[in-house]
Amino acid sequence: MNHLSFSFTSDGSKTLFNSEVGEHYHSQNGALQESQHVFVKSGLDFIIQKDQKKTISILEVGFGTGLNFLLSADYCESNSIKLSYTGIEAFPLESEIISQTSYHQYVPPSIWQQFIANYKDAAGKSVEISNNCKLEISHSKLMDFSSKNQFDVIYFDAFAAAYQPEMWTLNSLSHACAFLKEGGVFVTYAITGDLKRNMKSLGFSIEKAPGAAGKREMLRAIKLIP
Ligand SMILES: C[S@@+](CC[C@H](N)C(=O)[O-])C[C@H]1O[C@@H](n2cnc3c(N)ncnc32)[C@H](O)[C@@H]1O
Repeated sequence: MNHLSFSFTSDGSKTLFNSEVGEHYHSQNGALQESQHVFVKSGLDFIIQKDQKKTISILEVGFGTGLNFLLSADYCESNSIKLSYTGIEAFPLESEIISQTSYHQYVPPSIWQQFIANYKDAAGKSVEISNNCKLEISHSKLMDFSSKNQFDVIYFDAFAAAYQPEMWTLNSLSHACAFLKEGGVFVTYAITGDLKRNMKSLGFSIEKAPGAAGKREMLRAIKLIP
């Protein structure tokens, strides 16, 4: 995996740079901060507070290093919420790379150890990370992903549209959002006119939420009941 290299972001957490895509896996203004703010706080915590949920299912587009999963698992463990997490990843990272992220420092040792121990086994099947938390990683492209499950939350963490425009088309968004429950929440770090128009046309109410460090706004969208 010569096209991958680590670098430090502004909050001291690491990210990966993919030289084939020309893009980082996280915001250079803080990988940890972005993951906490965009996905855990604005997506997961938002729906837990809104709907007073005790069980939650999350679908992530672009599983990558698993940082969003680790922080979500920690949040759910701390709040006694049952988590069922599915990641979609077209180019899965080797576990040796995951081990070098140093993300162990952001979660309790048990979550990190169970994640590392079960990362390979989670490919295509659900594995227990703790009594309250299950993980499955679908090694497929978004457009090839299918599931009988409907999810409460979508974390849309694709590479930016400037680098991977095909992930942000109406077709791709429509495919991902077909797996979201009515009333479910879609969050992503980006917000553009095209994205807002596409999400509205898919039957979502859209909201400009405050962005992560270095970004004024991000998109949160709720799937309306037709
Ligand atoms: C911005 S990074 C995601 C970072 C990740 N959430 C993390 O915390 O490390 C985008 C991810 O999307 C993956 N990807 C690229 N094309 C994809 C596709 N067609 N379907 C699913 N995943 C894809 C990349 O391999 C990469 O892991």
